[in-house]
Amino acid sequence: MASTTSMNSYWMPFTANRDYKAAPRMVASASGMFYKDENGREILDGTAGLWCVPLGHAQPKVVAAVQHAVATLDYAPAFQMSHPAAFELADKLMTFTGNKFGQVFYTNSGSESVDTAMKMVLAYHRARGEAQRTRFISRERGYHGVGFGGLSVGGIGANRKHFGPLLTGVDYLPHTLSLEHNAFSKGEPNWGAHLADDLERLVTLHDASNIAAVIVEPLAGSAGVILPPKGYLKRLRELCDKHGILLIFDEVITGFGRMTTPFGMDYFDVVPDLMTTAKGLTNGVVPMGAVFSKGFIYDTLMNGPAGIEFFHGYTYSGHPLAVAAALASLEVFMEGEVLANAKAMAPYWEEAVHSLKGLPHVIDIRNVGLIAGIELQPIAGKPGARAMAAYKQAFAEGILVRTTGDIIAMSPPLILEKKHIDQLVGTLAGILKTLD
Ligand SMILES: Cc1ncc(COP(=O)(O)O)c(C=O)c1O
Repeated sequence: MASTTSMNSYWMPFTANRDYKAAPRMVASASGMFYKDENGREILDGTAGLWCVPLGHAQPKVVAAVQHAVATLDYAPAFQMSHPAAFELADKLMTFTGNKFGQVFYTNSGSESVDTAMKMVLAYHRARGEAQRTRFISRERGYHGVGFGGLSVGGIGANRKHFGPLLTGVDYLPHTLSLEHNAFSKGEPNWGAHLADDLERLVTLHDASNIAAVIVEPLAGSAGVILPPKGYLKRLRELCDKHGILLIFDEVITGFGRMTTPFGMDYFDVVPDLMTTAKGLTNGVVPMGAVFSKGFIYDTLMNGPAGIEFFHGYTYSGHPLAVAAALASLEVFMEGEVLANAKAMAPYWEEAVHSLKGLPHVIDIRNVGLIAGIELQPIAGKPGARAMAAYKQAFAEGILVRTTGDIIAMSPPLILEKKHIDQLVGTLAGILKTLD
């Protein structure tokens, strides 16, 4: 296909368009742990697409559910109207989250989930008479999507710098990555819980009565697999409670099994007031996101004047195809085998990725659940070039990884077996040995 199209018309997202179009990488089909390119060559998926295919590609139950849905109810209006499966899914999601939340609001992406959660928080504070609570606190190196809300609380400079002015009234906690203290930690690092205490400084500066919410990823994925130090998230929770500040976990990456538990909040044993999700919710098959909120937030808004309580929503909120994909995905998750496999593979995964320690350029390795980050020493004056070269070579050698700066990130589908881990890590080891 590439040879018969101009390649020029499609403006690709988060892509070096000129570089890519000079030497495109295409996939044509996918099944289980593998993509295939246009020539039928297999590429082992070390990233579950973009962290969004936890159950593996073409999961039969999900495929069948979507096929059935599209032939039955192609679309249902989302405002003042709905369809039964949307309510069924909401109930089942409550169960899957251990009934820690009261409601779920449907969106179409992680970015929309984040903006929705931010608006819920503002509406909630206003409805209970604290309309001045408008400030958000997030974190350096955080990624919360590309909407203006999520971008404003995002902490990755390259994403922000072209698009000002962003929302005012946002402050940033320090990120939690420290190679000096924590390099080559296995799982949650020991050093750094005190970094959460920076919230006290911001409370002193602004007064808690002006702060609406803290938003963080339990584990920062997009900025290169940055783990929370032991005790850090619990400390954030305590400080939020102390000051009446709501806590939002952005679980777009950590949700739906990535940590070997249903959500990051389960793994870290810290429950937020709102949780934003997307990606694994539908196994990546149909775009969908979901915001989970504690019952008290919804209840507060339901006490307002009669009529629409929350002036927000999307044409495709609760789209029948997305709901069908989510219901089928949830059924597979609830059967338990996929999460059990992820748990069983996690120790092998940890040992395998840490076996790369000592190879040329490797300055840190980080892991948790079925996630790994391998940080390389940048080439002087060419940040990101070394990891990008590794990424291209990996694709040429039949494995798909991801890079952020000079960090190689891996997050394979949770159905993987030891042989897949061996192939991913073995191929990467060979590449690291030959990389400039
Ligand atoms: C934590 C987090 N939040 C939000 C998003 C944005 O999701 P989307 O690309 O679906 O808008 C992402 C995407 O990777 C993410 O990792």
